Amino acid sequence: MRMKIIGTGSALPQAQVDNSQMAEWVDTTDAWIRERTGIGERRLSTGETVASLAAEACLKALEQAGRKAEEVDLILLATCSAEYLCPSAACQVQAAIGAVNANAFDINAACSGFVFGLNMAQAYIQSGMYSRILIVGSEVLTKMTDWNDRGTCVLFGDGAGAALVEAHEEGDSRMLGCIEGADGTKGMVLNCRSRMIDNPLFHEDREKAGGLHLSMDGREVYCFATRQVADCINQVLKKTELKVEDIDLFVLHQANVRIIEAVAKKLHADLSLFPINLDRVGNMSSATIPVLLDELNREGRLHRGDKLVLSGFGGGLTYGASVLIW
Ligand code: UT7
Repeated sequence: MRMKIIGTGSALPQAQVDNSQMAEWVDTTDAWIRERTGIGERRLSTGETVASLAAEACLKALEQAGRKAEEVDLILLATCSAEYLCPSAACQVQAAIGAVNANAFDINAACSGFVFGLNMAQAYIQSGMYSRILIVGSEVLTKMTDWNDRGTCVLFGDGAGAALVEAHEEGDSRMLGCIEGADGTKGMVLNCRSRMIDNPLFHEDREKAGGLHLSMDGREVYCFATRQVADCINQVLKKTELKVEDIDLFVLHQANVRIIEAVAKKLHADLSLFPINLDRVGNMSSATIPVLLDELNREGRLHRGDKLVLSGFGGGLTYGASVLIW
């Protein structure tokens, strides 16, 4: 059984914040942010939630595909910034869109979450367990960022993207192969602490446990990304017996334009094959790839038969790449 993406959708908060506005909040400049990251503006939630953005993105994907919410078997929602630990954001989306026949759960793999979700969907479809799956990446990261830390708060934005996949037997569209991995030994280079242990026997010291905001060693993540992303793309190409020249588009996680340029250089691929939207939306973690995919789809830049590489990397540390025939 093959997996085909039959619809995409995305949703962004209303509020747009450019670098000049950021410079009023923290000690930074438009020039620094643009030169070091490529980011020009991002969206910030003024009440939109992981679940509400995800639901909107899912409804758009369903509408584009001409399918009803009741026809969905499973909702896989990738996020690391959900409003609730329980219920999952996926279950909230299931209720919001009326996907009464769908199972639903969250995946936490930070910026690799959407790619991992797509790979899981492929495995479910191949096994015959589910045949129509919504994969969503949704984040309201700005509730986790430290608004006194100019090294991180300028990077992130909020948003959601979704893809509806379906099992089919005819036509070329399918996933050709994937690679995934994690290195937990480097996990703390990008971390955000959850609640403290606090019970009648033990009260964890908040100072010792670290802050409740996102904290990042940017250079470590940068080095990891430039090395690991090119490596895992090369691995997945080898596995699928394809060459860089066979690929029509490389849809990469949008963390930093310099990372994308470095990966393109390592692969000896033309930078024009690496679409970029982080100048407009910043780093939305698990949402970056599906939002970019939806933009490309709606702009008519994806054609049936095109070969795409999707690659995500980030917290965990985690990384993954998939090759699809659109
Ligand atoms: O989604 C996956 C997770 N995240 C990533 O993939 C991020 C990966 N890392 C990066 O993209 C880059 O490391 C950053 C964009 C985060 C930082 O760029 P960098 O070139 O590695 O800068 P840096 O952290 O080494 O800082 C250089 C200087 C420092 O000043 P000094 O010590 O040289 O005087 C920082 O204090 O830039 C300063 N700086 C800033 N200056 C103005 C840091 N942030 C800012 C800022 N505005 N926003």
